[in-house]
Amino acid sequence: MSHIRLIATAKANTNIALIKYWGKRDEKLILPMNSSLSVTLDNFYTITTVEFTDTLTEDKLIWDQAPGNYEELIKISSFLDIIRKKSGINLHAKVITENHVPTAAGFASSASGYAALAAAATKALGLNLSHKELSIIARQGSGSACRSVYGGFVEWQKGSMEDGSDSYAYQILNENAWNITILSVMVASGQKKVSSRDGMKRTVETSPFYKGWLSTVNEDLEEAKKAIRNRDFVSLGEVVERTALKMHATMLGAIPPIIYLESGTLEVMNRVQELRQNGFPAYFTIDAGPNVKVLCQPENESRIKQALMELGSVQKVISCNPGEGVRYLSEHLV
Ligand code: DP6
Repeated sequence: MSHIRLIATAKANTNIALIKYWGKRDEKLILPMNSSLSVTLDNFYTITTVEFTDTLTEDKLIWDQAPGNYEELIKISSFLDIIRKKSGINLHAKVITENHVPTAAGFASSASGYAALAAAATKALGLNLSHKELSIIARQGSGSACRSVYGGFVEWQKGSMEDGSDSYAYQILNENAWNITILSVMVASGQKKVSSRDGMKRTVETSPFYKGWLSTVNEDLEEAKKAIRNRDFVSLGEVVERTALKMHATMLGAIPPIIYLESGTLEVMNRVQELRQNGFPAYFTIDAGPNVKVLCQPENESRIKQALMELGSVQKVISCNPGEGVRYLSEHLV
C-alpha cells in the first residue's frame, strides 16, 4: 500500500527590529501593543523541511540533526494545528530544521524559525498563500516571524481587529533598494536570560514606564519610515538608538527588573558613540540579550568593525546586509 507524503522545504532569514515590538495585547494570537519595523538580515537563516505523512502517529522534530526538545515540539505541534485546521488535512508531520543563526550567542532564531516553518508547512499542504496570509500565520508562532516573510525593510502593523486579521507585515523597501551594514557584536556574557516572551509580559504588567513607551513609539516609527524612504542614514540611526534605549528603560521599571544590558554591552555602546564623535556614523540597537547590533554605512564597515574588535569584551563581530524574504527550496532535508 502506498503512503501519503506531502513535503516542502523553505528558507527564511532572521530580522533585527529597528523599532521594537515589546508587549502583547493578546497572548494567544500574538497581537502586539505597538507596530514595529525591522530589516531582514542576509547571513542568518533557518532551513526547514516539513513532511506530512500517514505513517506517523505523532509529530516529530529534528533540530540541528538531533531530536528536538519536548517543549519546542509541543509549541511546534500547536502551531502546525493552525495550519492543519486551515487546510483541512489532519496528518502528523516530521519537521526537520537547521539553524544558521548563532542561537547559543543569544541571537533569536524564532523569527527565521517560524517564518520557515509556516512557509514549508503551508506549501506542503497545498495552501497557496499570499505573503500577507503567510505573515498572519507566522505571527502566531512568534511575533517577530511575521516580518521575516519579507526581505529588506519591513513594517508589522499592529492592527486593531480582535481576530488578528489586520495584524501582519508588509515591505517598505526591498533588500536591493538601500544597502546598509548591520554588525552583530557578540559580547562575553554569563547570565541566564529572561526570554523576550516573559520579559515583555512582565513589562506590560508591572512597569510604570510602559505607558511612556506606548506614547512615543508611533512617532519614532513614522520618523524611521521617513528616514528609510529618504535613504537618510543619520536620521534612521538617531531614532533607532533612541527607541532601543526607551525599550530597555521600560524593563528597568518592571518588577522584578529585567536587565539585559551587561558590562560588555555598555562598552560597545560607549565605543559606538565615540566613533560617531570621531566622524564615523554608527548607531546601536539591543534586543532581549546582551549582544549589540551596530548599524553603519558599507564604506565605513571595516574601520568600525576593527574599532569594535579591539574591545576586551567583544568576542565576535559578524557583518550582515539587508537580505531576502522567505523562499522555497526544491532539495529537502530528508
Ligand atoms: C526584543 O518575536 O521573539 O526582539 O512573539 O513572544 O515569540 P514572541 O516574541 P519575539 O520577540 C521579539 C522581541 C524583540 C523585538 C523585536 O524583534 O521586535
